[in-house]
Amino acid sequence: METVIARMCDGINEAEISRAGEILRGGGLVAFPTETVYGLGANALDAEAAGKIYRAKGRPSDNPLIVHIADWDAIYKIAAEVPAEAKLLADAFWPGPLTMILRKSDVVPPATTGGLDTVAVRLPDHAVARALIRAGGGYVAAPSANTSGRPSPTKAEHVAQDMDGVIDMIIDGGDVEIGIESTIVDLTDGTPTILRPGYISREMLGRVLGAVEVDRALISEDSALRPKAPGMKYRHYAPKAQLFIVQGPQQLVREKINALAEENKAAGLRTGVIGTDESQAFYANALVKSIGSRRDEGSIARHLYGILREFDESEVSVIYSEAFDTPQMGQAIMNRLIKAAGHQIISV
Ligand code: TXA
Ligand code: MG
Repeated sequence: METVIARMCDGINEAEISRAGEILRGGGLVAFPTETVYGLGANALDAEAAGKIYRAKGRPSDNPLIVHIADWDAIYKIAAEVPAEAKLLADAFWPGPLTMILRKSDVVPPATTGGLDTVAVRLPDHAVARALIRAGGGYVAAPSANTSGRPSPTKAEHVAQDMDGVIDMIIDGGDVEIGIESTIVDLTDGTPTILRPGYISREMLGRVLGAVEVDRALISEDSALRPKAPGMKYRHYAPKAQLFIVQGPQQLVREKINALAEENKAAGLRTGVIGTDESQAFYANALVKSIGSRRDEGSIARHLYGILREFDESEVSVIYSEAFDTPQMGQAIMNRLIKAAGHQIISV
């Protein structure tokens, strides 16, 4: 199939949005920008269309999709119950990078929710995304628009790398703003619980809701614990090279990485390093990439997935990354990085 690219970096193109809406209403697939990462959209209320998403991504069918809406009132059609906490969170954080898990209504097919009786709902903070959702009928199921197991796309070129020839259309809205997927909070099971960390931190949720828990499977070393968000159990974002996180005091981390790079060189291996604007000049014997500045955690989140993709194009066989325990998004950034590293961490 030919994949049409519609450019909307400078705003909405109404003609292209109606064309994209028609594709969605006809059961097709359209990738689109959001403030977090690019999504791969299909009509969420059409089981067959949702099924196409799983095939395009090579995604396991038990991994449910997030339903994207453009207006608060749309929630009442897909949720069987809308608890008071949902309204409080929507007033505080929607449109924005927050996904809520609610009991689903009968109109949402099991194909969309991976067979669960709950539904994930998000109202994104991106004008192109909301225009597309409205044009497509109001309910757009969208996982990140990458092939399963690859880093999430933060620009349209990343989507094209994975989805060209496989989906009907890609809407190019330029680089995303945040770069890491939405925070997921479960409102169906007692105390609100974070199932996936994101831009909206536990503290920010706590200010609105009071008590907020974190899914124990996210913070425990015990791999027998099953995460409540099915997608969190998979090893995501795996780069082709071996990735190690090196953590500890900054000076020691730099020295350790340089020592390892020198050893690798002697063994004929090429090393990659994920450093920062502040540290990159320090490294030798390696292909060094800066992820951003430690003074601007947003820059680190924004470049994480792109840097992992870039390393896939280079000939390095091992990558060392500094750790990024930044104030607001540190948990989210490290959650993604630790998964990409398959939990390989070197402490100094
Ligand atoms: O920022 C985002 O959320 C992006 C953009 C495109 O909106 N979307 C995204 O979707 O990250 P995806 O499919 O890559 O991740 C969805 C996560 C998975 O871990 C899935 O298991 C979980 O949400 N999830 C979806 N529905 C769920 C449900 N009913 N109960 C528990 N977890 C759910
Ligand atoms: Mg994903």
